Amino acid sequence: MNKNDLIIRIGGEGGEGIISVGDMITQACARAGLDVYTFKTFPAEIKGGYAMYQVRASTEPVYNQGDIFDVLCVFNGEAYELNKARLKPGNAFVYDSPGDFEPVIPEGVFAYPIPMTKTAKELNNPRAKNMVAMGALSILFNIPEAALREVIDTKFKRRGDAVVQGNLTAFERGRELALALKKTDPWIIGTPKESKRDVIVMSGNNAIGLGALIAGLEFFAAYPITPATEIAIYVSKHLPKRGGTLIQAEDEIAAISQVLGASYAGKKSMTSTSGPGLSLMSEMLGMAFMSETPCVVADVQRGGPSTGLPTKHEQSDLFLAVHGAHGDSGRIVLSVENVHDCIGLTVTAFNLAEKYQCPVILLSDGSLAFSTQSVPYPNPDDYPTVDRLRWDGQGEYHRYELTESGISPMADPGTPNGMHIATGLEHNPAGMPSYTGENHEIMQGKRFRKLNTVVNDMPPAEVDGEGAADVGVIAWGSTIGVVREALQRLRAEGIKVKGFYPKLLNPLPVQQFEDFGATCKRIVLPEVNFQGQLAHFVRAETTLRPVSYTICSGMPFTPEMIVNRVKEMLA
Ligand code: COA
Repeated sequence: MNKNDLIIRIGGEGGEGIISVGDMITQACARAGLDVYTFKTFPAEIKGGYAMYQVRASTEPVYNQGDIFDVLCVFNGEAYELNKARLKPGNAFVYDSPGDFEPVIPEGVFAYPIPMTKTAKELNNPRAKNMVAMGALSILFNIPEAALREVIDTKFKRRGDAVVQGNLTAFERGRELALALKKTDPWIIGTPKESKRDVIVMSGNNAIGLGALIAGLEFFAAYPITPATEIAIYVSKHLPKRGGTLIQAEDEIAAISQVLGASYAGKKSMTSTSGPGLSLMSEMLGMAFMSETPCVVADVQRGGPSTGLPTKHEQSDLFLAVHGAHGDSGRIVLSVENVHDCIGLTVTAFNLAEKYQCPVILLSDGSLAFSTQSVPYPNPDDYPTVDRLRWDGQGEYHRYELTESGISPMADPGTPNGMHIATGLEHNPAGMPSYTGENHEIMQGKRFRKLNTVVNDMPPAEVDGEGAADVGVIAWGSTIGVVREALQRLRAEGIKVKGFYPKLLNPLPVQQFEDFGATCKRIVLPEVNFQGQLAHFVRAETTLRPVSYTICSGMPFTPEMIVNRVKEMLA
């Protein structure tokens, strides 16, 4: 039987090639025309520890990683131990046998022992254990064979023909082993509605890099940090070819400082980091606000505080993004929902930074960073770009001229008569240091005045549903995709629910929150952090009193969790 929405989870030890198998299955399903959404989690160590990859492949649009797997494939005892409680009747269970564990197969579970380790050893290619498993999965669940062969070739060809051939042989052996078993479960992946769709499959991190290039990125500096590093890697492959510059800085303070220098010189500039790096950047973000220097910081959130859970998912940098600064320092904070958003909102981040001449922090998260999803093939023409207001060279130049909007024209260095100082010291409209209280009040008013109109430059936050609702759900970041599906399920049961999905988190679009709140009897706000950070801002800035629903287990919410919470509220 075709399963139109199939979830396969693969678990094993870091170093066994779990991530590679997951990526390959994802690519093959996407090439076959299915909508894909993946979730992966791996240890902070390079080798050892539990690595897991979950692929959801569906004939319908998918917004999240799903509740739980239909198919579990484990490479070792640890992966079995960590997942065995979740095996339910109807699941298919593929496992290494003989292996380092003896599973107890629950009643109703369809079990397929595959000698993954043994076969790979027999082939004198122990690394190819993952290919044996993938071959078996492809037979059991009808994952397109030709597409898998293609991705094996693409993945390993840089390592030479022998590696490609060795992996293809192991893949073939895995298929033979599975063919010899009797398939007892009814599941195979769904048949796509259209066989060829104009989509690409990419990760959240790569999509942020792509969005930056579409926006006109000219300078990028960053210090590597999990889970943000792939943004820099992606940009490093493409920016130099377009005449731009990328620097791997010695640390995050250097990275943001270089970004501000390049932006002062007239270049569209960006850095990427994660929580610990954003903390280090906080002083220079104040400098960017004070000197009115456009810059974009992509912050891929991970479990914190401190070095925390570097490879795990969390949405806990919102306080830092909004208020991580000394003095009164403003910035714009956006947050992305999915891979598609990572492209478009990165362009928006640049446009806002350029228009308002201030820092823009783009919040992504650990789950989205590595999640691969199918997105419509991006057309740069669909993303209009904005450049900073430049001085027209007329009259006497005052860099920080007082204007109604608060926005003053910038002059690139070298512009005749456009000399000016960009300083972190308080300054007068001409840019000269000035410490009088009166001037400080005027200049703070000018800088913050700019932020008043940001809300008009963004589409209103999406309201999911119509009319009055018994429960409204406010969500941000990748939690939105989970809420979308939860609300569909609740509506199917006749429950009146609505969702509200803000992407602009600072300045908070207060009136939009109020309008949404006025249509809901009760509101719940799920987010993956301990303190309920967005709920805190909503309570502080609006009249809404959302019930905060927080988790911080390193994993995202599942739709089922949201469904259950809403039902609890109604009970
Ligand atoms: N034949 C040959 N090579 C293979 C293979 C096969 N059949 N299967 C996988 N490989 C290679 C992969 O290409 C990859 O090599 P590459 O990195 O040069 O591309 C390598 O083996 C690891 O395989 P992969 O599938 O990517 O990962 P994995 O599931 O084995 O898990 C990680 C390993 C990703 C968990 C681990 O290496 C890692 O990076 N951990 C995170 C470290 C981190 O970020 N820490 C935080 C610090 S703050």
